Amino acid sequence: MKTRVGVVFGGVSVEHEVSVISALQAIKAMDDNQYEAVPVYISKDRNWYTGEELLDIEAYKDLKQLLQNAQKVSITKSDNGNVILQKDPVPKFGKRSVAEIDVAFPIVHGTFGEDGVLQGLFELYDLPYVGCDVMSSAAGMDKVMMKQILRDSKLPVLDYVWFHSSHWTDDSEDIITMIEERLGFPVIVKPANLGSSVGINKAQTREELEEAVEEAMSFASKILVEYMVQDMKEVNCSVLGDYEEVEASVIEEVLKSEEILSYQDKYQGGGKGADAAKGMESTDRVIPAPLDDKSTTEVQELAKDTFQILGCSGVSRIDFLIDQTENKVYVNEINTIPGSLSFYLWDPAGKNYTQLTHQLIQLALKRKRERDKLTFSIDSNLFSLQSAEGVKGGSKSNKPNA
Ligand SMILES: Nc1ncnc2c1ncn2[C@@H]1O[C@H](COP(=O)(O)OP(=O)(O)O)[C@@H](O)[C@H]1O
Ligand SMILES: [Mg+2]
Repeated sequence: MKTRVGVVFGGVSVEHEVSVISALQAIKAMDDNQYEAVPVYISKDRNWYTGEELLDIEAYKDLKQLLQNAQKVSITKSDNGNVILQKDPVPKFGKRSVAEIDVAFPIVHGTFGEDGVLQGLFELYDLPYVGCDVMSSAAGMDKVMMKQILRDSKLPVLDYVWFHSSHWTDDSEDIITMIEERLGFPVIVKPANLGSSVGINKAQTREELEEAVEEAMSFASKILVEYMVQDMKEVNCSVLGDYEEVEASVIEEVLKSEEILSYQDKYQGGGKGADAAKGMESTDRVIPAPLDDKSTTEVQELAKDTFQILGCSGVSRIDFLIDQTENKVYVNEINTIPGSLSFYLWDPAGKNYTQLTHQLIQLALKRKRERDKLTFSIDSNLFSLQSAEGVKGGSKSNKPNA
């Protein structure tokens, strides 16, 4: 029997559309002799849908019509313990289950998908899932948390200051002074947990800093202000594996049309009207990046270390900033569900997209087998063991040893 793979995409994030593209690409790539892909689309208003209609990228142009044709569902467990998608609302008569799922394949970028939230739902359903677990997803998504963890392991990250937006509101003067002393201008201001360059700005003066922070604050309550590298090269490297074994892909250099790699650069080929439907695949890039052997090895080793220190699994893309004046490499960020799953970095290394999706699903099943060996609850019912008096908390000896 084929393994039924629930490919979950869309979601509540600024990268919703990119996720649709990434997911449909992955579904197309999956080996259909071995896997049956079940599309699971999460709309921006948090409803879940399934159905063949969702496989056609053109259909997303008329989203209202698409969602009328698709089947609205919710995730639940059937009486025999399998995870199913059931019709929503549940029909009074007839079959309520639309599809069964053996393994989930989340391809949701950004908030509520890449940050551990969706992964937590799968954990509750005891459903194996592709990619990072709750902890590594959450740590990878929060740029501050990620830098703290990496810095603790002596990995090179750029100097930074972070604060909550409420601190800024209370005492922006103090924070600005701290930024001037610690980092100097120019700096880059980022919301801690978004993606796609949304809300990210450069600041060269106090005034610009204030503006940039105010803008970032509309996207997140945690703000990161970072030392800005001026003569910079951006390179990315994908890592595939888990805590036991990892491999690094070839490296890409991403080219940008403005100082900050923008949403347009990432998804529309520098805004030159390239194929938006190709997602990350259409970014202007050089593969392999023109780096010497030493720097290539350095980036690949740092990428693997970042992946394993954060506890990642599946496929991630680690992005680097190279300060060309200092000739120094810094880890900028990790994307735990990278655009197009970074397949274009594995293809040149001899691993095609079909093989990549296969390996990812197998890693998910491996983690599930390992987790099944752990004990999460105790079979005996403590209540049934206690005397009626004990339950009332009467005698001292019956009190739990907390
Ligand atoms: N410290 C920095 N110095 C110079 N440029 C930066 C710095 N941090 C980010 N950038 C620019 O901003 C872009 C987006 O920042 P990044 O941290 O990658 O956020 P996102 O998660 O939105 O991709 C980068 O690709 C790079 O072009
Ligand atoms: Mg980035």
